[in-house]
Amino acid sequence: MKAAVVDRPGGIPALREVPDPRPGDGEVRVTVAAVAVENVDRAIVAGTHYTAAEFQAALPAIPCFDGIGHLADGSTVGFGGLRPPHGALAEHVVVPAAYTVPIPEEIAAPTAAALSSAITAMTMRTAGGLTAGETVLVQGATGVAGRLAVQVARLLGAGRVVATGRDPVALEEVGADAVVNTDVDDERLIQAFRAHAGEGYDVVVDYLWGRPTALLARALVPDSFTLAKPTRLVQVGESAGPDIRLSADALRTSGLEIYGAGRNAASGMAAAYQQVVEWVRAGALTIPVVTMPLSAIAEAWTRTDLRGRRLVIVPG
Ligand SMILES: NC(=O)c1ccc[n+]([C@@H]2O[C@H](COP(=O)([O-])OP(=O)(O)OC[C@H]3O[C@@H](n4cnc5c(N)ncnc54)[C@H](OP(=O)(O)O)[C@@H]3O)[C@@H](O)[C@H]2O)c1
Repeated sequence: MKAAVVDRPGGIPALREVPDPRPGDGEVRVTVAAVAVENVDRAIVAGTHYTAAEFQAALPAIPCFDGIGHLADGSTVGFGGLRPPHGALAEHVVVPAAYTVPIPEEIAAPTAAALSSAITAMTMRTAGGLTAGETVLVQGATGVAGRLAVQVARLLGAGRVVATGRDPVALEEVGADAVVNTDVDDERLIQAFRAHAGEGYDVVVDYLWGRPTALLARALVPDSFTLAKPTRLVQVGESAGPDIRLSADALRTSGLEIYGAGRNAASGMAAAYQQVVEWVRAGALTIPVVTMPLSAIAEAWTRTDLRGRRLVIVPG
């Protein structure tokens, strides 16, 4: 079968002929229909993700570890559970049967492959406890996940949605009530966070971390002795950097509470998944994707013009 193979650390996947995988006990063979390429996949291949060592040790290896495909009976499933060197960018995969979930027929495979970012946005409720009428700040709202988070915030009944990004044109596209451009000097960014806070940010969905989130924490520190309203920040991504400098007063006085995206995942994610599927099925939530065939993987992997659309690799 054909597959996209990386043969050196940081290499670009290239189309190769590899042995067709055969299922063992408890496993199923899946014909791959769509695989989303996300930042995490690129970071694993580049060696910058915390799980990259396993991939680098298994080279040559096939990237991406989940996707959408068809079982022998023609049904469509989401699959996961792949471990390096076996990845999803291939014509077929073999996965444990337990790592497949049915996908409703009405959802096209490329859209289904990109559902996970919308499901991640549901952490504003599962981890951040968002209730209707509250104000949501989406850090990194011009990216694929951030744009979906703006939509999800609306669908969950947020009262106000504030979006951050660096590109003024993209910021206008995302459909927020107010925007903050992070591509300004530190003092101006702190002032902008304060100016658009309204009654305060109740929930922050943070795809950035790094400098913008460090400055947000500073912006939340009150100027005088007051009891600050809580701001529940849900840490989801790190597009602006893996670390922040967090002063003691930013935690002590600002009302800032920081949660990982995995908080309450065990109890809340199944319902979150069902809700996202329903919204997509009903046309209430749109997931923008760009499809490219597996044969064009090298070109697809190096694209930089996707502007808020998820790259999805399909057969061909
Ligand atoms: N935990 C999960 O399940 C999950 C799911 C999806 C995504 N994520 C993570 O969330 C993050 C965003 O993912 P994505 O798919 O939305 O990525 P994306 O489409 O590439 O968007 C990245 C966002 O970050 C901004 N950005 C990038 N570099 C920046 C910098 N140096 N300073 C300030 N802003 C910067 C971009 O702004 P511009 O538009 O100006 O470039 C854009 O808003 C990634 O870290 C990803 O791994 C996690």
